[in-house]
Amino acid sequence: MHDREFGNGTSNGNDNGTGTGTGNCNCNGNGIRNGNGIGNGNGNGNVNGNEKVKGADVIKMKPMDSEVLREKGHIMVDFIADYYRDLQDSPQDFPVLSQVQPGYLRDLLPNSAPDQPESLNELLDDVTKKIMPGITHWQRPSYFAYYASSTSVAGFLGEMLNAGLSVVGFTWQTSPAATELEIIVLDWLAKLLQLPDHFLSTGHGGGVIQGTGCEAVLVVVLAARDRILKQVGKTVLPQLVVYASDQTHSSFRKACLIGGIHEENIRLLKTDSSTNYGLLPESLEEAISHDIAKGCIPFFICATVGTTSSAAVDPLVPLGKIAKKYGIWMHVDAAYAGNACICPEYRKFIDGVENADSFNMNAHKWLFANQTCSPLWVKDRYALIDALKTNPEYLEYKVSERDAVVNYKDWQISLSRRFRSLKLWMVLRLYGSENLRNFIREHVNLAKQFEDYVTQDPHFEVVTTRYFSLVCFRLVPVDDGDEDKCNQRNRELLAAINSTGKIFISHTALSGQFILRFAVGAPLTEEKHVTEAWQIIQKHASKFTRNGNC
Ligand SMILES: Cc1ncc(COP(=O)(O)O)c(C=O)c1O
Repeated sequence: MHDREFGNGTSNGNDNGTGTGTGNCNCNGNGIRNGNGIGNGNGNGNVNGNEKVKGADVIKMKPMDSEVLREKGHIMVDFIADYYRDLQDSPQDFPVLSQVQPGYLRDLLPNSAPDQPESLNELLDDVTKKIMPGITHWQRPSYFAYYASSTSVAGFLGEMLNAGLSVVGFTWQTSPAATELEIIVLDWLAKLLQLPDHFLSTGHGGGVIQGTGCEAVLVVVLAARDRILKQVGKTVLPQLVVYASDQTHSSFRKACLIGGIHEENIRLLKTDSSTNYGLLPESLEEAISHDIAKGCIPFFICATVGTTSSAAVDPLVPLGKIAKKYGIWMHVDAAYAGNACICPEYRKFIDGVENADSFNMNAHKWLFANQTCSPLWVKDRYALIDALKTNPEYLEYKVSERDAVVNYKDWQISLSRRFRSLKLWMVLRLYGSENLRNFIREHVNLAKQFEDYVTQDPHFEVVTTRYFSLVCFRLVPVDDGDEDKCNQRNRELLAAINSTGKIFISHTALSGQFILRFAVGAPLTEEKHVTEAWQIIQKHASKFTRNGNC
């Protein structure tokens, strides 16, 4: 007897009434099918409804029954497809910024896991009623807050395939295709970005997909640290100094601390509006000279193309020259804006990457590769491998030569790894690079449209030069130009806008000013959403701007 409610009755080869399918399942008061859940079977045919299993038979689970997967998988795909439809058709049911209070879920769920299986329908009902209210809908077209979590059908299908195969490609042998596809796809992407040849697998470098940008910067800090320690001796660790701008993502500081770099040796060099918050090369060189004179050892600079706060760009050409002059590892964090650099017109922002030792971008931010997918390229793969390799006996393989195969466990922190290249490969193949470029351009155009709205309203100002799809803006100071009062008004405006649940924007601080951020990047965003967003912002701003007075 075959039941479709999570594999009952198919696991023990016994057709003695073990099924809990349509004919046998119980329904609760809500009409929700309450048959047994995943993969239970039982020789006595007692696994019905919520009944306890009788007798001493061992319950046999069949967690991956292909027919159950087929049926339930369709239900799940329908559920998710309906979600994307409803995000557009009934947006009022999905406040972009979740409006629940902390701890809301504890009151809605039982204190312990169920002893007996529950049905998928029941579970999905809970998702709708209990989980969805606690979701901030990053995929709603009116999401304009942090850099996007970009999704696509291709990326989603890639994640599905990854979940289905569920291989763990830590060494080449544990799934040759997982390793080899990653190498090939990162070569493809490197070519789209026009990265220098030394980042390709055919040179001394190569690409690896890290989980996140944070992991990427951590592994290269470790590689650079070990490289310098090897050159000058392990005892100099307390003298090692790193550099970045004060706009650099917080993960850089964390990576340095994990890497044993002393907090007081992390130089976050000041930036301001005169360089649109990009790092001034003169500041870097001055800091390096000063540190060398003190007996410190500069070894790492993290340059950013598209900072988190305001999408500022550090000038890679002069920074790279300085890095080269002093023998410093230069890492380029292009987590967000690196994606745009597949378009020839944005490639100029990474000019100078030729002098970088490593380069990273987050394909889950703006290349439709669903969370998470953070390609990292290094110029010298052995620097990475020397810092991170492990050689436990149980992973020994007959191909022992260093160059024979890539073992990605030695390019990252963890041993286990997902087959992330699948979704990137699928995104690149199923859309083609020309479509991806056009989609990115469309987002930038929408940001430009928003920027035009802001510029035309005298109550607002655009605060930084926009390069990509992020607009930084604020209500202008009025009367006496009091910046504190202005900050407070902008803070209140942000809270009022986000409490509507209709749009979600975020904020940052630049030179002591409270700044509003409008970042385009959600896959369903269109012109009308940007226009609506501006209308909502203007409406809520009107209480500060009435009579021309803030
Ligand atoms: C410039 C930059 N670098 C690094 C990161 C961290 O990326 P992840 O969240 O993938 O660790 C971000 C995240 O927004 C970012 O904007």
